Amino acid sequence: MLAGKNITVGVTGGIAVFKTAQLVSSLKAGGAGLQVIMTRSAQEFVRPLTFQVLSGNPVRTDLFEADRGSVQHIELAAWPDLIVIAPATANILGKAAAGIGDDLLSTVIMAATCPVLFCPAMNVNMYNNAVVQRNIATLRDLGYKFIEPGTGRLACGAEGQGRLADLDQIIEEIEGLLILRKDMVGLTVMVTAGPTVEPIDPVRYLTNRSSGKMGYAVAGAAAARGAKTLLISGPTALKPPCGIELINVETAAQMYNAVIDRFANVDMVVKTAAVADYRPKEAVAQKIKKHNGPMSLELVRNHDILAELGKRKNKQILVGFAAETNDLERNSLRKAQDKNLDLLVANDINQAGAGFGSDTNIVKFVYRGGDIKQMPLMDKKELAHRILDEALAVRRKKQ
Ligand code: PMT
Repeated sequence: MLAGKNITVGVTGGIAVFKTAQLVSSLKAGGAGLQVIMTRSAQEFVRPLTFQVLSGNPVRTDLFEADRGSVQHIELAAWPDLIVIAPATANILGKAAAGIGDDLLSTVIMAATCPVLFCPAMNVNMYNNAVVQRNIATLRDLGYKFIEPGTGRLACGAEGQGRLADLDQIIEEIEGLLILRKDMVGLTVMVTAGPTVEPIDPVRYLTNRSSGKMGYAVAGAAAARGAKTLLISGPTALKPPCGIELINVETAAQMYNAVIDRFANVDMVVKTAAVADYRPKEAVAQKIKKHNGPMSLELVRNHDILAELGKRKNKQILVGFAAETNDLERNSLRKAQDKNLDLLVANDINQAGAGFGSDTNIVKFVYRGGDIKQMPLMDKKELAHRILDEALAVRRKKQ
């Protein structure tokens, strides 16, 4: 996702520095070119060698490095597509807001023309201090980007807001800022994700193995590309992507209502959710007691939400998914035709690295006309963008 992008990570002196090491490692694994600048305080927590090894480049620490003939801070400010300050202490926020450049990092921030993303992390009282909040507001007004710190137990023992935001969230924001294709501005996209759960009694339910990762990736990608994004999600353990509207549902019937209510006002639907085809005929109010011998459960059909959308669609681009264990192409083509889809994303869930729960997927793009395109194994986040690329291409052809 980050191949060809250059990121400078500015590290200031807070205990969350150890998390920045993981961040740098993940950005490197994502293909980004990396430079790390550490302040003097940051080096009190972690030695530059750690970041040198993780970034694959010497770490910059000194504004007046003796053996460099060039104007270092100007060169360093011109190189990246994005500067990320993590953790960002109250001190660096204050210096940036006041226009103070008294070390390498603060001068690079001042000389930069690319976006700068601050990820504050500090004690809760420091974070809530009126001066710090004023500095954040000033920087936001000037166009600097922020990821709010998380809330919880802090390293100093206090409880409250001040923890460095989750790395997944930071990486998602970085990817969003670096994706130059804001090619979905003006579009409204509805994504469904996760499993549905169908109650049997107050204790038990029927569900499936969907984690929501594929659908959340599609929603995050659509929002990053500028679409107004509605995410209708069954129960998952995932943090919702930034910038989307989340509608939580549990049962297939609730998902049906949520989707149908909004369908007329959207331009594109991506139906990634694994929706239960059947539900127990009745969800009984009391816990079912065991008794000797077998028991049976009568199931009744749920609405096929996607088929219903296929009947109702006019301007909308409809993207369905299929999870198959056999006859992938034949079954998927039949689904694409029966449900009147513009595109069907088919996964053979027998393959390692594909389908439920994994961070990756292997899919075929199946078109109603019969064309089939095989995609290689890829991260669900990258695949999400490919799916949107295909859906936009179909939309352009139809216009
Ligand atoms: O969530 P993850 O762990 O990341 O896993 C991703 C995934 C495997 C769930 C995803 O890639 C996927 O394949 N989703 C569709 C799973 C599925 O339910 O397939 P299906 O072949 O049963 O359904 C076909 C399509 O009809 C799907 O778009 C589904 O949303 C839709 N459907 C199905 C039944 C129903 N009652 N209503 C529907 O709208």
